[in-house]
Amino acid sequence: MKPIRFALGLGLALASAPALAQQAPVTASSPDGTVSVSLTIDGDGRAAYAVTRKGKPIIAPSRLGFLFTDEAKIDRRLTVTGQEVRDFDETWTQPWGEWANIRNRYRELKVHLKETTALARVFTVTFRLYEDGVGFRYEFPNQPNMAKTNVADELTEFAFAQDGTAWWKPAFLWNREEYLYNKTPLSSVSTADTPVTIKLADGTHVALHEAALVDYSGMAVTRTEGTTLRANLTPGAGEAKVRKTGAWNTPWRTLIIADDAPGIYQSHLMLNLNEPNKLGDVSWFKPGKFAGVWWNMIKGEWSWARGPKHGATTANVKAYIDFAAANGIPHVLVEGWNVGWDGDWFGNGWDMDFAKPTEDFDIKALAAYAKKKGVRLIGHHETGGAATHYENQFDKAFKFAADNGYMVVKTGYVTDAGQIERVDPDGKKYREWHEGQWMSNHFIRVAQAAAKYRIAFDSHEPIKGTGLQRTYPNWVAREGMRGMEYNAWLGGKNPPEHEANLVFTRMLEGPMDFTPGVLSLKGAENSDLLSTVAKQLALYVVIYSPVQMLADTPENYAKFPAEMKFIRDVPTDWQETRVLNGEIGDYFTIARKERGGEGWYVGAVGDENAHTIAFKLDFLTPGKRYKAEIYRDGDDADYRTDKRHSIAIESKVLTSADSLTMRIAPGGGFAIRLVPAK
Ligand code: NOJ
Ligand code: CA
Repeated sequence: MKPIRFALGLGLALASAPALAQQAPVTASSPDGTVSVSLTIDGDGRAAYAVTRKGKPIIAPSRLGFLFTDEAKIDRRLTVTGQEVRDFDETWTQPWGEWANIRNRYRELKVHLKETTALARVFTVTFRLYEDGVGFRYEFPNQPNMAKTNVADELTEFAFAQDGTAWWKPAFLWNREEYLYNKTPLSSVSTADTPVTIKLADGTHVALHEAALVDYSGMAVTRTEGTTLRANLTPGAGEAKVRKTGAWNTPWRTLIIADDAPGIYQSHLMLNLNEPNKLGDVSWFKPGKFAGVWWNMIKGEWSWARGPKHGATTANVKAYIDFAAANGIPHVLVEGWNVGWDGDWFGNGWDMDFAKPTEDFDIKALAAYAKKKGVRLIGHHETGGAATHYENQFDKAFKFAADNGYMVVKTGYVTDAGQIERVDPDGKKYREWHEGQWMSNHFIRVAQAAAKYRIAFDSHEPIKGTGLQRTYPNWVAREGMRGMEYNAWLGGKNPPEHEANLVFTRMLEGPMDFTPGVLSLKGAENSDLLSTVAKQLALYVVIYSPVQMLADTPENYAKFPAEMKFIRDVPTDWQETRVLNGEIGDYFTIARKERGGEGWYVGAVGDENAHTIAFKLDFLTPGKRYKAEIYRDGDDADYRTDKRHSIAIESKVLTSADSLTMRIAPGGGFAIRLVPAK
């Protein structure tokens, strides 16, 4: 393939104009020298970038460029007109997160390019080089020949220098981000959502994703040949996938590169490539857990709609508030509380009114009751994909939430991919994609509107996460994967390896509202989850979200008092996080230190096989003795048998000099709480 393409390119160039002189490559390395990039212009005037790590090629020369709907593409006839290099090193603090302090140390290389054609369009490719990878983006200044830009697609390539194993989800299918992961050779990927995580043949791990997806459409990738992936932007409502006026830039195209899977997880590259907090003081948001009038609906026993099975009744919500208060759980989510669910809400949210409770949900009484009990309600805004209808009621919806003492709202966009309803001020209707340019802006409008009322939000069926929680720290969580709800349904439960896939793929996007903790291990019609009970506890450490659900029902939690202690104890905000070991899709062990305390929590999950995992406790403070409360799979635990509830709860005194060897049962995991011993 390659030689043919080269010949064609050369042929066209020769027919139109004499070949350009090859320019010397422009290169730069990360401040520590680990990762290097070079930008070259070939004899055709085509720009390509390449990435090496420790001198080894990771990305072979890969094209840069754009296709427009109404203009000549930016592809050949480019020349480098200048370059700038600058170093940056700063440590910033997250208001909440997996790490309190984050070092942002990079070298930036700006390469200025210009077309040698009559259009003479100019742009800059900016690279930021980190010890653990690289981000780059295109920046277009305002210019006469690009006053309005209609991007048909981005021609950015990612030509991996080796084959490897890729973990990926298909893009552009009806169910959005909610697919299981494919594990295939990189050379067999078709069209994938990012992050795509790859273990190259030599063992190097790479995660391909993007950062700061603002006013642009989300980038999927399509394999063009061999091990080369190319950007494939999410469609817009019209012909152009992205429309711009004046100056513009793309999001950062990111490659996290590490020796192993834990190294990928530890990267801060995505957050660092986002703009600092634009909301100011968000200390009004306190990370915490939530119970919810939910699992019974997801299982089909209660309904969101009014009627005999209605879940969000005053009596039911009171019982959930009692449960939360008794267990120190600060929030209670209520779904189906508002007018709009009775008809055809699914993919059609026109009737949804987020300031109008149903008559059997006494908001005044419940707000007062919750307040008395020290609990807050979490409101739910299910848009059914009617995004403009939602925007039109932002003010009354967030005011209603604030007036009733809410700190958090959960949003939802249940409709098939490409079916979001946008209505422009002139009344014209368009269908948009969840990950398209218009929705990228919609979510920022949600963040801004909610922030005015000091409301944080957790979006389901969202756009992918690209680190915007740094800029809008009230965007505290999102779904965007197959969460626990799939385990309620009969149509195919999440397999045991699912979470060990998620942590190295979806979790790279940031907080994940997976909704752990189904201790009953029962979904609809008494169907079994493919999990042990210890694994459900482990998920509170393994999966990160500042708002973490207790997904099961109060009745079920009452049956597991010993396990409940761990759920009560585990925090949702961390000073520090360390991945102790892991292989994508096989197992994962993580240690997290609580913020504002000395406690450490360790969580591990496996897959369908048993694993024995040994790790050092050298993250503990030396010289201190810790009481370890260990919740592990019982010796006979197995997700395939009626021993899935078998658990051993033990306590030990340990120090930073100790190591632990733990067994994970098939479908299992373990959770450990380490607190300074008295
Ligand atoms: C799908 C969401 O993931 C789930 O959490 C929610 O309960 C339903 N939609 C209804 O909005
Ligand atoms: Ca969902």
